[in-house]
Amino acid sequence: MLDDQTISDLAKAFAAAPDGFLVVDSGHPTFAVLPYQVYQTLKKTKSNNKKIKKILVTGGAGYIGSHTVNLLLKEDFEVVVFDNLSTGRKEAVGDAKLVVGDLADKDALEKLFKKEKFDAIIHFAASIEVEESVANPAKYYQNNVANGLNLLDAMVANGVNRIVFSSSAAVYGEPEKNPIDEDSVCVPTNPYGETKLAFERILKWYGLAYGIHSISLRYFNAAGSMPEAGLGYDRSLKHTHLIPRVLDAALGKTAEINVFGKDYDTSDGTCVRDYIHVLDLADAHIRALAKLQKTPGANVYNVGTGLGSSVLEIIDATVEITGRMIPMKITDRRPGDPAKLVANSKKLQKEFGWKPRHDLKSIIESSWEWQKNT
Ligand code: UFG
Repeated sequence: MLDDQTISDLAKAFAAAPDGFLVVDSGHPTFAVLPYQVYQTLKKTKSNNKKIKKILVTGGAGYIGSHTVNLLLKEDFEVVVFDNLSTGRKEAVGDAKLVVGDLADKDALEKLFKKEKFDAIIHFAASIEVEESVANPAKYYQNNVANGLNLLDAMVANGVNRIVFSSSAAVYGEPEKNPIDEDSVCVPTNPYGETKLAFERILKWYGLAYGIHSISLRYFNAAGSMPEAGLGYDRSLKHTHLIPRVLDAALGKTAEINVFGKDYDTSDGTCVRDYIHVLDLADAHIRALAKLQKTPGANVYNVGTGLGSSVLEIIDATVEITGRMIPMKITDRRPGDPAKLVANSKKLQKEFGWKPRHDLKSIIESSWEWQKNT
């Protein structure tokens, strides 16, 4: 036990160095004085050394989820996909085990966690359309927050404490500057972004209270396909994202592409986005698992290329790659759209050794291959 005087001296020193400090004796560190929350997190981390092998992937039959599952299987992870197939395709999970179920169903989750012993979770399952979220926020709070809580509670109840979360650049809203780094202020402009941010914050508090370690990956605009593995956007769904819609117009499946607004403060007046190949995103998840193995707490990373393309630039590039005419019409702005979102992903590059390996050409070419044959 330390005597009262020593405790008082340490308390004074801590007031001057609230991030903590080391006490050194004869040139050697003997102990550390740490903020209590940091101490708690480190203590809980002790049980976090088991090698990550078996992964639960929620939403693994969906677009980004299925590409990630493909890569996880190649890297020899054992994968169980939990998906309600509302927007996913069962063929897309390949050799992974598929459990069809909904995160709203707490009993199904409890059964799943009792049956399988997961080392970590990758949580994709969510509603993802900005426009729909503005019209129907209830759906977004239910699916992205309430159902996510069911997953976290099942993790806590069953001693699973590592999770990679699909977050989004939508958490930033209309950023003060581009490229956007992780310290930028988060003021979402739509319920989709609000619910993703809410879940990131829940992860932080679940980390402090229950020892959940998390990595939230803030995706910019996922695009591209993997036609050789039968993976891409689901043809049976109505496309809502720009690139598959432009390709549908190139194929004559739709009469034209609507350009939502040409009066933004950007070089050509149309919105600018950072389009990132879905395989580069999938790769970031594999690296996130390795990082989770040794990093405690709740951590956040942007995943983007750092390059922005406007809507008109995407249409031009698609005309060039497909050799097709693409009729277009300028329409009103779409509610909830920020003018420009471009990532600063230096933190991810530095800490994960990650870098994007596919360019815009490869994104459009792979999606064209997939879409013209499905
Ligand atoms: N757009 C059109 N016409 C269309 C479809 C889209 O002009 O028919 C425009 C949109 O207004 C926007 C851009 O193309 O400016 C990209 O729109 P998407 O719907 O493809 O993607 P979003 O930028 O709205 O959202 C996507 C993801 C979100 C993510 C966000 C982050 O859906 O999950 O990128 O940048 F948060």
